[in-house]
Amino acid sequence: MSSLAESIDKTRLPRHIAIIMDGNGRWARDKGEDRLVGHFHGVESVRNIVEGCAELGIEYLTLYAFSTENWERPQYEVVGLMELLVSTIRKEVSNLCQNNIRLHVIGDMSMLPDYARKELNEALRLTASNTGLNLIMALSYSGRWELLNAVKNIAHEVKMNRLQVEEIDHHTLERFLCTSGFPDPELMIRTSGEYRISNFLLYQLAYAELYFTPVRWPDFRKENLYEAILDFQKRERRFGKTSEQLRKERQTRPVHESI
Ligand code: IPE
Ligand code: IPE
Ligand code: MG
Repeated sequence: MSSLAESIDKTRLPRHIAIIMDGNGRWARDKGEDRLVGHFHGVESVRNIVEGCAELGIEYLTLYAFSTENWERPQYEVVGLMELLVSTIRKEVSNLCQNNIRLHVIGDMSMLPDYARKELNEALRLTASNTGLNLIMALSYSGRWELLNAVKNIAHEVKMNRLQVEEIDHHTLERFLCTSGFPDPELMIRTSGEYRISNFLLYQLAYAELYFTPVRWPDFRKENLYEAILDFQKRERRFGKTSEQLRKERQTRPVHESI
C-alpha cells in the first residue's frame, strides 16, 4: 500500500464519494486526438478508482458519467459514449461480481437507446445480490430533472389520496429521489479544474465537502483519490454549528461513537 494510502484514517472514511469525471475532451485535444479517445482512456480511470474505493472499504461511489445536458453534444460523441458504455459494462460485469460490487444507475433511463438500457438492466440484475461497494452510475442524470420528477410523483400520490400534504417532510422528498436509500455524499470530487456542480446531485450535496483538482479524468488515479480523502479528513464539518459546540459534543460522546 502506498504511503498516502497508509496515512488515511480508516476510521474516518467518507461513506459516500461522488465524482464529476471531467476533462476527457481536453485531455484528448491536447494530445491531438479525437474527444472519444479521451472518453476511452477515462474508462481506465473508472476501473482504477472503483478498485481503490473497494480496497479502502468505501460503501458508495457515485460517478457522473453523462448529464441530461450532454444529450446536446454532437451526435457522433453521444453515440460514441453510448457504445463505450455498453461495451464497458459487458466487459466489466464479471469483474464487478468477482469483487462483490453492486451496480446502480440513477438518471432518466427512458432517454437511453434500447440496446444500452438492456445491457444496463442485465448488469443491474447480475450484480443485485453483491454486498460490497455500491457503484452508482449517474447516466442521463441531472439534479433538476430528478427534483422535477420527484415533485411530479409526490403530487401524483397526493392526488391519489395516498399522501397528505401535511405529511410531506424531507424524508418523503428523499424517498422520491433516485438516490433513495443511499446516504448523502460526504465528499464530492471534480476533476479538470472546473469549479462548478453542473447539475449534479443538487439536493444531496447540501453538506458535502467539495474537492477540485486540475487533474483531468483520464489521468486521475488512486493516488489522486487518496489526496482528496486526506484533504477531506483535515476539514471540520460544522453543519451550521460552531467549532466550540462540536468540541463539546466530542468530549461528551462515548469513545466508541467518537469517529
Ligand atoms: C467528461 O469529459 C465526460 C462527459 C461529460 C461525458 P468532457 O467530455 O466534458 O471533457 P471536457 O470537459 O470537454 O474536457
Ligand atoms: C459534467 O461535465 C457532466 C459529466 C461529467 C458527466 P460537463 O463537461 O458536461 O459540464 P460543463 O458543461 O463543463 O458544466
Ligand atoms: Mg467537461
